[in-house]
Amino acid sequence: MCGIIGVLGNHEAAPILVEGLKRLEYRGYDSAGIATVNNGTLGRRRAVGKLVNLSDALVHDPLAGKSGIGHTRWATHGAPTVTNAHPHRSGCVAVVHNGIIENYKELREELAAKGLAYESETDSETVALLAESFAREGFSPVDAAAKTVERLHGAFALAFLFDGEQDLMIAARKGSPLAIGHGDGEMFVGSDAMALAPFTDQITYLEEGDFAVLTRTSLEIRNSEGKLANREKRQIQLDMARIEKDGHKHFMAKEIAEQPTAIDRALANYLAQDNSIVLPEALDFSQIERLTLVACGTGYYSCLVAKYWFEQIARMPVEVDVASEFRYREPPISADTLAVFVSQSGETADTLAALRYTEGKAKQIAGLVNVPESSIARESDIVLPIKAGPEISVASTKAFTCQLTVLLLMALKAAEVRGHALPENVLEDMRALPGLVHQAIAAENSIQAMARDLAGARDVIFLGRGALYPIALEGALKLKELSYIHAEGYASGELKHGPIALIDETVPVVVMAPRDALFEKTVSNMQEVMARGGKVILVTDAEGAKMAGDGVHATIVLPALPDVLAPILYAVPAQQIAYYTAIAKGTDVDQPRNLAKSVTVE
Ligand code: F6R
Repeated sequence: MCGIIGVLGNHEAAPILVEGLKRLEYRGYDSAGIATVNNGTLGRRRAVGKLVNLSDALVHDPLAGKSGIGHTRWATHGAPTVTNAHPHRSGCVAVVHNGIIENYKELREELAAKGLAYESETDSETVALLAESFAREGFSPVDAAAKTVERLHGAFALAFLFDGEQDLMIAARKGSPLAIGHGDGEMFVGSDAMALAPFTDQITYLEEGDFAVLTRTSLEIRNSEGKLANREKRQIQLDMARIEKDGHKHFMAKEIAEQPTAIDRALANYLAQDNSIVLPEALDFSQIERLTLVACGTGYYSCLVAKYWFEQIARMPVEVDVASEFRYREPPISADTLAVFVSQSGETADTLAALRYTEGKAKQIAGLVNVPESSIARESDIVLPIKAGPEISVASTKAFTCQLTVLLLMALKAAEVRGHALPENVLEDMRALPGLVHQAIAAENSIQAMARDLAGARDVIFLGRGALYPIALEGALKLKELSYIHAEGYASGELKHGPIALIDETVPVVVMAPRDALFEKTVSNMQEVMARGGKVILVTDAEGAKMAGDGVHATIVLPALPDVLAPILYAVPAQQIAYYTAIAKGTDVDQPRNLAKSVTVE
């Protein structure tokens, strides 16, 4: 993964690079580093851990120069150490890399045989050594970089800086995104447009196989065949104000609180005043017989919920897959399939690869994304923005509820087009969702108290039935990633087929159960838990709380709402349970260990 930034500027590069890296830290925060060219000489600073460590290091040991590259790392090859941190340097070359160089071992041997010395355990350092080896053979910096890129297998976004070259940067993209920013007599490189937002809104996205030569006043891009390529320069709208915490302690708290507004925005985008559902014209459910939904992590759970909706309401068969398994499973895809790729970032490597697998097989490819400029959006036939607004916290919250909102509208549209009755008043009820989510958020006091208890647990189980089963999975995922407590989600009825063996008085069981047609069955499952000493934490509505009877350890009461909407509302306590448990444990809520927001490696 990792984030890349570069500048050929007219001001000191170091503060610009650090500012850009701040906006890329969501891509990894194991280490960070920058390199500059000052009076023709390459220099570099690197630090382990969060970016703040690099900023501190730069206070004591500043780095001058108006051209520079920077990197924030999510470790793949090699531990998070200073030596493994980017930029990597060999002789006259410094390089930052996002992706994985698959043939690095073979290249390493070849370069070692030529006497080029390695200092790190990374695959990325190979790129610097290879460029240096070509430079030693007499190739110019541009040719050395070009010859280097030709030898690399795998995925990469790269930026090269050369000793003695104050007005030159090389950027290359294959498999990992890279954007060029055009300033006034300045040029920038970034893993995404958001990183470049403080400096410019004029962006050119590199395409697969592109190789770019930048100076302060020029940009020359060649495509994978070496031909000059004319890539569009776009003006990007980025609302800078929305990436602040706005008085909240964490981005996650802010993003949980933003859900009513975000869902409202998603509804406004697809639901007209007269309650007609307006999807992109190209999306015609009368021509589609089945759906394939693919995503990772939290996005995968929104697909699992959507399966219930599409099957029950629109009577359409739905396959759901985790993206990392999908293409290797080689599923047959019939020509009447709509393939939908759900991704907050729109950059997840597995999901993008799965999308590419369906090209030429599915009837249409739709990208349901939060970042409309992302790779998944740009490679989809149909783009469905979820309108959540920038999501900075690594744990996804508002993107999840917005994904669900848009997926439900799609299922309802499919039902309408295919002549199936919609659940009574569903569209009016959807308009009430933001208000209900607001009420659910306000239930946080009971969650805070309960989370202090949960913080002491070693294992937690989440249960749910029907479309609440994926919400149980999401609750468990959120708790794991934020509080590092082992948690598992199960379909309530499945508990007795094995997992019940785990239950004793030390294992809290969170049950997601609105008072619906299946509630009584869930009550029986709760009894089974309580009979074995398990502590049940019930998330339900007022009627459910009344019917649950004695023995429940704690109850979180949400507003009652139609069954079809329950997964969206019940996502909120799932998020808050994880959030407050993490607070009670004192973990890093916005940047949990080992994670990154955008997973751009397989
Ligand atoms: C969990 C979480 C991850 C992401 C997953 C996919 O809180 O955020 O599981 O959902 O990495 O990311 P996107 O949606 O960007 O493809």
